[in-house]
Formats: sequence, structure tokens, C-alpha cells
Amino acid sequence: MIRVAIIGATGYTASESLAILLRHTDAEATYLTALPEECGPMAEIFGVLRDRIDLDVVPLDLARAAELADVVLCCLPHKVSMGFVPQLLEAGLKVVDYSADYRLRDVAVYEAYYKVEHTDRDNIARAAFGLPELFRESIVGKDLVANPGCYPTCAVLGLAPLVREGLIGSDDIVVNMVSGASGAGRRPGLAFHFPEMNENYFAYAVGTHRHMPEIEQVLSDVAGRPVTVLFQPHVAPFTRGMLATVYANPTRSVSQAELDDLYTEAYGDEVFVRLPGRPPQITAIAGTNYCDVWATTAKGKVIVFSALDNLVKGAAGQAIQNMNLLFGLDEATGLL
Ligand SMILES: NC(=O)c1ccc[n+]([C@@H]2O[C@H](COP(=O)([O-])OP(=O)(O)OC[C@H]3O[C@@H](n4cnc5c(N)ncnc54)[C@H](OP(=O)(O)O)[C@@H]3O)[C@@H](O)[C@H]2O)c1
Repeated sequence: MIRVAIIGATGYTASESLAILLRHTDAEATYLTALPEECGPMAEIFGVLRDRIDLDVVPLDLARAAELADVVLCCLPHKVSMGFVPQLLEAGLKVVDYSADYRLRDVAVYEAYYKVEHTDRDNIARAAFGLPELFRESIVGKDLVANPGCYPTCAVLGLAPLVREGLIGSDDIVVNMVSGASGAGRRPGLAFHFPEMNENYFAYAVGTHRHMPEIEQVLSDVAGRPVTVLFQPHVAPFTRGMLATVYANPTRSVSQAELDDLYTEAYGDEVFVRLPGRPPQITAIAGTNYCDVWATTAKGKVIVFSALDNLVKGAAGQAIQNMNLLFGLDEATGLL
């Protein structure tokens, strides 16, 4: 049995991770930690876990973590994570990090977008980018996985087959996305206060969102040449799920049959990418580890739709998919 510690256990991605671990046949949560003022019985912090888990959330003790766990799901915010990860690795633990701290290879880009000095540069190169459908081989055998952001997972899974084939241009891709409100985490902020959010829909971070360079980095890796995107996120008043609508110019004429074949070839064997053959819907992916993708053409453009649950395939589910890979398990264990 793989023993799993969760750090930042009072957050949304942590509770989602625990819910998955409760269904996992080969892994169990053994140690949950948070800031001292947030500690207490996990089943009281998240009512959904009542009578399902008998673990207290306690302040982190590194020696105890190393004694009780084999792997840490590090569910901390960016900037905070890099203060913990080096010690966890030094203690001999494997780490799947949910934050952005180990995702961007170029420290200057990280520091420009996150507006903070990176304090653990050495471990950036040690991290595998945890998008199994594209980088499975590089995840196996690692001890640090940078779990991708939710927007990048959704956009990149939608676009990867097209950029790999060079079927769309590299500098005129527009990624328009909408996310549910849980994407902002559990700590309340004014924009997500119920009267502000309810019946509302708004764009934010115009031209500046931190996931934009991450999307570009991964698409450039897949394409083998620089790819730039204009990424525009929005928030809408549903709790979980996100949808990307991507517009791109084809580099030549492309038929629906060719697009269908391309995506079937790319994802036909992937458990967690489904090809519904029509625009995906949030209700079809909510609560699951699936990403639903459909590419089509209209008015001379290629349009790609992609949808996933930000807390599952966008965070906790993908992290456990990565954890399964680190321990040589079937990638889908606990996730179907
Ligand atoms: N939400 C999503 O859809 C999503 C998707 C993909 C990736 N992620 C990433 O996953 C990570 C966790 O996100 P989340 O939505 O679970 O956030 P969250 O609900 O705000 O939870 C964050 C956790 O970290 C703790 N924390 C905050 N500052 C801390 C500090 N200085 N020291 C120790 N613990 C601290 C919080 O404790 P308190 O209870 O005291 O606040 C809480 O337990 C973030 O890096 C986020 O970017 C989130």
C-alpha cells in the first residue's frame, strides 16, 4: 500500500485528492498537514468526508512525514510550495506538487509572471511535467512531478495533435476559456463572494494570466518550435469544471474526417481523453478525470473545444494519475 501525505490539507484540491484516495485500492492517506490554526479532524473540516476518514490534520513535522508516508501531495499555493518541496525531497519522499513553482523551466519567466524570486532553482530541472498523455515516459522514475495547471491541461490536450502535425499556425492561436469558481481555491476573495459571482460572468487577467507561458512552453515542446498563444480566461458561477474554445488558422485545407482521424490516433488509447464528436459540456466531465475534446472547422478556422474538471483532471485526479506512474501502478487506479 502506498502511504500518502497531503500538505495544505484544508484546501479544495486536497479534499478532492482525499476523496479519490478513499476509492484507491493501492494507496491510502496516512498524514495530513496544515497551518496550526487550521488543524483538526479532517471529517469536520470537510463534511463530505464525515464517517469516511478518521485522520486529524496536524502541523507539518518533517520527520513524521518521512516516517508515515512514501509520497507527498503538495497542495500548497505557488510561492509557498517551493519553501517546502526541497525539505520533502531531502527527507526521501516523492513529491507531486500542485503549484506552479516547478512547471516553468525558465526562471526569468516564472519570476516575471509570479512576481517573486524563485528560491529553489536547483529542483526545477529535477521535476517532470506531469501531463501523462504527452510526457508519460519522462514521469516514470522521477521523484518530483510538477502537476500542470488546470487551464494548461485543458488547452494543451485540445491543441497538442494540431501543433504536433503543424496543421495550425504557431503565432495566431486564441485560447478562450471559462472556469468554475473553485479554480480560485477555498480562501474567499471579493470577486468570488456569492452576490458578486452569482448570475455573473467576467473576464480577468487580460493578456497577463500566469498560465499563458505554461501553455506556450508545453505546446512549443510538443511542436518542436516556438508556439505563442493569446489566452483569455473567464469565470462563471458554476462550482467546478472548465471549457476551452480555441480558434486557430489552418496551415492548409483540412477536412472533418482528417481531424477526427488525427485525434483518434493521438488519444484513441488514452483512458482519460474522450472524443465526443461534438462540443463537450461541463456536466459531462464534472467530478471525473476525463478531458473531452472535439476539433472542427468553421469559416476557414480550426476550432477546438476541450473540457475538464479543474479539481480532478486539472489537479487532484491528474496528481494521482502521476502518483500511480511514479509507483508503477496502472495509471487509472482509483480514477475510474
Ligand atoms: N483549485 C483548482 O482548481 C486548482 C487547479 C489546479 C491547480 N491548483 C493548484 O493547487 C494548489 C492548491 O489549490 P487549492 O485550490 O486547493 O487552494 P486552497 O483551497 O486555497 O488551499 C490551499 C492550501 O494551502 C494552505 N496554505 C496557504 N498558505 C500557506 C502557507 N503559507 N503555509 C502553509 N500552508 C498554506 C491553505 O491553508 P489555509 O486553510 O490556511 O488557507 C490550504 O490548506 C495551488 O497551487 C493551486 O494553484 C488548483
